[in-house]
This record gives sequence, C-alpha cells and structure tokens, in this order.
Amino acid sequence: MSIATARFTIAPLTSADREAFTAYRATEDTARYQGWEATYSVADADALIAGQPASFPPPEDGWLQLAVHEGGVLVGDVAVHTTSQPDTYEVGVTVAPGHQRRGVAKEALSAVVDVLFDRHSAHRVTAETDARNDAVGALLKAIGFTHEGRAREADFFKGEWVTLDSWAMLASDRR
Ligand SMILES: CC(C)(COP(=O)(O)OP(=O)(O)OC[C@H]1O[C@@H](n2cnc3c(N)ncnc32)[C@H](O)[C@@H]1OP(=O)(O)O)[C@@H](O)C(=O)NCCC(=O)NCCS
Repeated sequence: MSIATARFTIAPLTSADREAFTAYRATEDTARYQGWEATYSVADADALIAGQPASFPPPEDGWLQLAVHEGGVLVGDVAVHTTSQPDTYEVGVTVAPGHQRRGVAKEALSAVVDVLFDRHSAHRVTAETDARNDAVGALLKAIGFTHEGRAREADFFKGEWVTLDSWAMLASDRR
C-alpha cells in the first residue's frame, strides 16, 4: 500500500529506512513517552522491520509501521494496530526531531485515518497517550479525535506511574 499526500509518500517501513529510523528513535525527544529507549539501535530497527506484517491493515493484534517520506527523506512514521474489536484500529505517530512543527504529523496521520475510514470501513480509530505529552494531545484534537478519558497513574512505565489519556474518532463523527 502507498498513500500520497500533498507533501508525503506513506508506505510500510522497509530496510531502506533502517538508519534514518534508528537515528530519530535513538533520541530522548522521541523515546520519552514511548515504548523504546534512546539506546535504540539499528539491530532493533532490523528486528522490527523483519517482524512487520505484510498487509495493510495488519492482521488482528498486529502493528504496522508506515514510513512517511518527503522527497525520499524519512521524516517520521505512523503506526497502525488492528485491535480485537471489529473495524477498530489504534494509531501512533512519531516525527523526527528536525522535522517537528512543520505539520508532518497532522498531514500524515490525517491521511492514514482517512484511508482507514474511507477505504477500510473503520468503525473506530483510537490513540492512547501519556497525559504529559501535550504535543500529541494538541495534534489529536486538531485532527478531530475526542478525548474520551484519563486513567490516573494507570501504567508503571520507565520507573514511574504514568497517567494515560484515551482518544478516539468514530465513523459517525465524520458524517
Ligand atoms: C507529537 C508529534 C508526533 C507531533 O508531530 P509534528 O509533526 O511536530 O506535529 P504537527 O507539526 O503536525 O503539529 C500539529 C499540531 O499539533 C500540536 N503540536 C505539535 N507539536 C506540539 C508541541 N510541541 N507543543 C504543543 N502543541 C504541539 C499543535 O496544535 C500543532 O498545530 P500548529 O503547529 O498549527 O500549532 C511529535 O512531537 C513527536 O514525534 N513527538 C515524539 C513522539 C511522540 O511522543 N509521539 C506520540 C506517541 S502516540
């Protein structure tokens, strides 16, 4: 699969992306609220890419990392998770520090969400975020996600209790 937006091409991450992907994952900026450490290595990227499902949307319980390229340069990624509920997907997004605040996440995540609803009959698309992550909260609100809830100190993550926000968009929200 491949999605073309005004500025970006969005398609599954491949081994051609391994160095650039590692470079932005191996930063405190991107690792802070996410499930990897700033020690992320090319071997970690290789393992992730080798384990990617071949289809979009991914099979139930699978995650697929979509690379966002601008003129051949990897500027970030959008992750799509197919949940166990029918037609229900979870998304995440990361933008390389040098490309943040340029509307990359807004344009790329909106395009992926549109494809899930319009081409794959999604019923509900969700995101779960660290409540301290103001950037992703503002991004999701700007795209049209609803803040559905906050689970206080619900996740013991990287040595501390973390409060989680849940966000969702329904097909009916878009009509
Ligand atoms: C969250 C993240 C993906 C946003 O990416 P981005 O490409 O910089 O976001 P955009 O430029 O598309 O911003 C869209 C809107 O989101 C909000 N936003 C983005 N970054 C923000 C920040 N640092 N602080 C406050 N609001 C922010 C703004 O409302 C922005 O619109 P504006 O620029 O017109 O004000 C990026 O900061 C990132 O990769 N962070 C680290 C990884 C991460 O935590 N991902 C979330 C896990 S689900």
